[in-house]
Amino acid sequence: MPSIFDEYQLHDLTLPNRIVMGPMTRAKATPEGVPTPIMATHYAQRASAGLIITEGTWPERRGQGYFDIPGIETQEQQDAWAKVTEAVHAKGGRIFLQMEHTGRVGHEVNSGGNTLCAPSDVPADFKIFSRDEGLIQMTTKLHVLSTEEVWEVIEKYGKAAERTKAAGFDGIELHGASGYLPHQFLSDTSNLRDDEFGGSPVKRTKFMIEVLKRLIEAWGDSHRIGVKISPGILYNGSVENEVEETYSALIEQLNELDLAYVAFQTPESLRSLSGMDNDDIANGAIWHRFPYEFIRERYNGTVIASGDLTRTLAQNALDAGKADLFVFGRAYMSNPDLVERMRNCWPLTPVDMGRGYGGGEEGYNDYPTWEEQQTEEHGKPVG
Ligand SMILES: Cc1cc2nc3c(=O)[nH]c(=O)nc-3n(C[C@H](O)[C@H](O)[C@H](O)COP(=O)(O)O)c2cc1C
Repeated sequence: MPSIFDEYQLHDLTLPNRIVMGPMTRAKATPEGVPTPIMATHYAQRASAGLIITEGTWPERRGQGYFDIPGIETQEQQDAWAKVTEAVHAKGGRIFLQMEHTGRVGHEVNSGGNTLCAPSDVPADFKIFSRDEGLIQMTTKLHVLSTEEVWEVIEKYGKAAERTKAAGFDGIELHGASGYLPHQFLSDTSNLRDDEFGGSPVKRTKFMIEVLKRLIEAWGDSHRIGVKISPGILYNGSVENEVEETYSALIEQLNELDLAYVAFQTPESLRSLSGMDNDDIANGAIWHRFPYEFIRERYNGTVIASGDLTRTLAQNALDAGKADLFVFGRAYMSNPDLVERMRNCWPLTPVDMGRGYGGGEEGYNDYPTWEEQQTEEHGKPVG
């Protein structure tokens, strides 16, 4: 029986263990979306993960839903990311960039004054943090993409993908979940189009599939492109009917693309992270069926699970054949040596979510490894 601490062959990429540092937005970039040196330190500290997936990163400025999150649209951003990948590789790690275009999710005050774009003129009924005014309603001012402009956005993803390769990443995860642009195309309530990108479950999958094809083209290798999906979740104003039809059609096509992996986050975990209450579930708006089974039954390749995992839960899921790789999110914020801690059953440092977003290195790069903790606590190095 394999253990979560055993090696995993992700096509030609050998992962030393099956523990993944999940993508986590931390708002540590400059206002122009340039990654900062503290980000390189942060990811390098976590290089013992089987795989690191970066925070959501925009391929174009209109796709920047949140302030101070990084982009990969300009040469300056590419060069700054190269320092991150170098730092991770120098510590023996592997790192994918998560590409996140937020579409209608956000507000122009967060995206450098740029009007947000969307599949249809349906604003997201949800709130978002802004730098100056705190929590505000998401914008109602949307630019509806023409068919030609949809292809232009796909091309933006492609150009950004070329930059990820030049910046030395090991691959890309397309953020197709959490109510962002590809998810807005998938949903029958945010995509009211009647062109080639809307009108039926299969047509609504076209945007995500075309983006993935463009990313594969940029890399020349489908095995370095993964995708995160979140069937039926209620988050960032996302509401989906026809979940089963749409995602069955989507996954059938994902199989043909021969990707690195499909990742998902449980609806329950997204709900608790976003502070949504139980009424959302009671109202039946959340998709009840647990995605582990749904995705495993349909998808032929590597599956990455996330949401409230512990060492034991991840191992149980591996033993039951429900997933192959396991994301740890919050535990990674406060435990740079998470793999070593879990392997040795050392206690985990609890995370201070009050320091989740923004700010500098405090609450970001100052969480000690277990060994450093021993030194601090006992005044002498261990071993
Ligand atoms: C501070 C924070 C930021 C996050 N940002 C992202 C993100 O940019 N992209 C993404 O796909 N998921 C994001 N997530 C979700 C995590 O990747 C992960 O799926 C989630 O935290 C559940 O895992 P956990 O229960 O181990 O924390 C974020 C989570 C946290 C806590």
